[in-house]
Amino acid sequence: MRILLLTGKGGVGKSTVASGTAALAAAAGHRTLLLSTDAAHSLGDAFGVEVGPEPTEVADRLFVQQVDAQLRFQQSWAEVQGYLLSVLDSAGVDRLAAEELTVLPGAEEVLALLELRLQVLSGAWDVVVVDCAPTAETLRLLALPEALGWYMQRVFPVQARVVKAFKPVLSRAAGVPMPGGSVFEAVERLHAELDEVCALLQGPDASVRLVLTPENVVVAEARRSWTTLSLYGYRVDGVVANRVFPHADADDWRAGWVDAQQQVLAEVEESFVGLPVWRSEYRPAEPVGVAALRDLASDVYAADDPLAVPAGDGPFRVTRSGDATVLRLRLPLVGRSDVDLARKHDELVVTVGAYRRVVTLPAGLVRLEVAGARVEDGELQVRFREARPSRAQGESA
Ligand SMILES: Nc1ncnc2c1ncn2[C@@H]1O[C@H](COP(=O)(O)OP(=O)(O)O)[C@@H](O)[C@H]1O
Ligand SMILES: [Mg+2]
Repeated sequence: MRILLLTGKGGVGKSTVASGTAALAAAAGHRTLLLSTDAAHSLGDAFGVEVGPEPTEVADRLFVQQVDAQLRFQQSWAEVQGYLLSVLDSAGVDRLAAEELTVLPGAEEVLALLELRLQVLSGAWDVVVVDCAPTAETLRLLALPEALGWYMQRVFPVQARVVKAFKPVLSRAAGVPMPGGSVFEAVERLHAELDEVCALLQGPDASVRLVLTPENVVVAEARRSWTTLSLYGYRVDGVVANRVFPHADADDWRAGWVDAQQQVLAEVEESFVGLPVWRSEYRPAEPVGVAALRDLASDVYAADDPLAVPAGDGPFRVTRSGDATVLRLRLPLVGRSDVDLARKHDELVVTVGAYRRVVTLPAGLVRLEVAGARVEDGELQVRFREARPSRAQGESA
């Protein structure tokens, strides 16, 4: 079961490359699902057919699905929302305002990932290709399952205890309705499902591919995405440079663009060293329909296997040698000064620019103290050692 996610700036060709990759996989004999989490429903346009919220067959072994995030959201959150609404209602909050308050920011998108989980678990597919929303939204989306899981794990049990303890007082004093057991069950279930989504997306069979066009602003964004995706534990396994002008006897205008693109492409090769950079030519017409999309993808990957599982370790691992235990997090394209690190008990908070990840330390590291940290070869290395009795926890590095 292979999971491939394609993301990149708006309009660079994510849907086109995702569609082509899926068509190629299906043609090679794999039962393939192409799933779009982008609210801009463009897969229908790419295949020239109607695509709905259920998998639609567009060719042999090739199915396409536009996730209805709103619907998924209602199914998973309705119970919890119902309870929150009743609380706000008893507090005299206007119904419309209350509804807005009980919608989790970003949750709709996350629930698109719950659909991915269901499809993976169904056992119906060998390959699932995900056509993601533009980068910024996708990053937020991919950061959320873990963050939300963290939140629910910490906050809800506490809340449950508090609610239980105050139950008699609360219901008498303010008439606040008590959540039934099913509300907590719904939260628990959602938490468990989000955990599974994280495990799937960060697992060895999943990877992210960055689509870009050879333009400086686009490449700059792709570089940042590589760093941020790695921070969140996702493996990036390749770059697709799309809309590359073919070489030809050209007038000055076109020759100018070909040159400019070649320069940017050279920078792309340099930036993404260690990753394959596949090229996709600017076609004379929009690639629409299964055959055109498959042709595009077979040109892009040429002799490479588009479904090859990335070799090597994931972005996150722990190594031991002698006394030293080192937690390693791949963070391509950053220097030591770009990274901020803080230790809080069993958590390591890693901040890179606007993005922050709370890494729950593996059990073996919790009792150790941070001895130092550095960034080397695109990797954050945090060294741990046996805690000395005289020193307190909660240090920063
Ligand atoms: N290599 C290409 N040659 C010609 N047209 C392309 C190519 N790649 C994408 N397009 C066209 O560009 C437009 C945007 O592509 P799309 O895949 O929808 O981008 P995204 O999903 O990133 O927003 C579509 O009309 C698509 O047909
Ligand atoms: Mg698209």
